[in-house]
Amino acid sequence: MNSKKLLAPVTLGRHQLANRIVLPPLTRQRAAQPGDIPTDLMAQYYSQRAGAGFMVSEGTQIEPRGQGYAWTPGIYSQAQIAGWRKVTRAVHAEGGVIFAQLWHVGRVSHTALQPGGAAPVAPSALPALNAKAFIETGPGAGILVAPSMPRELSVAEIAELVGLYAQAARNALEAGFDGVEIHAANGYLVNQFISGHANTRTDEYGGSLAKRLRFLREVVAAVAAVVGPERMGVRFTPLFTSTDEDRVYIGFVEDDPHATYIEAIKVLEQAGVGYLSIAEADWDHAPDLPEQFRRAVRDAFSGRIVYAGRYTAERGERLLETGLADLIAFGRPFIANPDLPARIANGWPLNAVDPATMYGGTEQGYTDYPAFAETTSITTNKD
Ligand SMILES: Cc1cc2nc3c(=O)[nH]c(=O)nc-3n(C[C@H](O)[C@H](O)[C@H](O)COP(=O)(O)O)c2cc1C
Repeated sequence: MNSKKLLAPVTLGRHQLANRIVLPPLTRQRAAQPGDIPTDLMAQYYSQRAGAGFMVSEGTQIEPRGQGYAWTPGIYSQAQIAGWRKVTRAVHAEGGVIFAQLWHVGRVSHTALQPGGAAPVAPSALPALNAKAFIETGPGAGILVAPSMPRELSVAEIAELVGLYAQAARNALEAGFDGVEIHAANGYLVNQFISGHANTRTDEYGGSLAKRLRFLREVVAAVAAVVGPERMGVRFTPLFTSTDEDRVYIGFVEDDPHATYIEAIKVLEQAGVGYLSIAEADWDHAPDLPEQFRRAVRDAFSGRIVYAGRYTAERGERLLETGLADLIAFGRPFIANPDLPARIANGWPLNAVDPATMYGGTEQGYTDYPAFAETTSITTNKD
């Protein structure tokens, strides 16, 4: 197969990326306990995947209340920053470029994960009905649970939260990240503010679409002031539809998702944000994003555009050829294939991903997926 476009370099802000293959944010729940601290094993995992032209860290919570799943790493304590520094050093040693995904789950959490056992915080006191949180039940053991009833944030608390995003961005730079991505997808805090279903506020942060986009606008401005807009991206799940109750992720199908997200993308455009990342539905047989939407995205946004969701090299190449995308992210294929770019370049077969080891655990199903060369026996021609 010809993967010419996927393998072609591209610029992203000040960075010259070696190819257009992206490691998207992938939660793996392997941070050290207590303290949710990135480990040497995580540094190894990321450095193994540094052949990607561009990498984004797994979601990293900006504050303790921003956590919805046990064992996910944070980026608010000195120990966490020191842990991330090991990750970024290892990636840079391999020539990689890595941004931190700044994450706050808002209402998709549980009192067991919240400081003092308090209620999770959200734009409105409405429960996340179709989402799950994950709590620890013993060392290395845990269960998925229904998120707890959240409480509504006050306007003063929203201002503090915007400040926490800016602080997390400073921490990311201190940890050696090349930039940051704001997680505004998958039904978490920023997505909750955007959603007319999760946000029923009647003050300046809710009601009209312009007001529901205010939190996004303020977070983008605060983070851009720290890192520079060209060194940041924002991730959305615009047309995310849920098909069953078992899924951890649920998106918010707005009454008019097309209009909602084109307006949201204009917020990024006005701020000069470096890239937009769109996570598409990722389960089998999910509908494709309408071409008309992709065109509207391209027209509304002049930065780089990344798509993720069930891409094969062939599908990714085809989308790049249309000119509607600049980079393609491969999630599960990258989990199982640390050398994915080399496999794509050479047409080598892919390892299959083991879903049982995706969330939590040890090096098994994490750093022990073999590179292609390791799976092929090398024979020499000696007499
Ligand atoms: C194990 C796992 C963890 C994920 N964690 C995150 C995350 O932390 N942040 C995020 O924005 N998306 C997350 N996603 C979504 C992926 O970034 C990506 O959009 C999705 O896997 C679709 O790509 P794929 O079909 O190539 O796997 C996760 C997906 C998987 C499978």
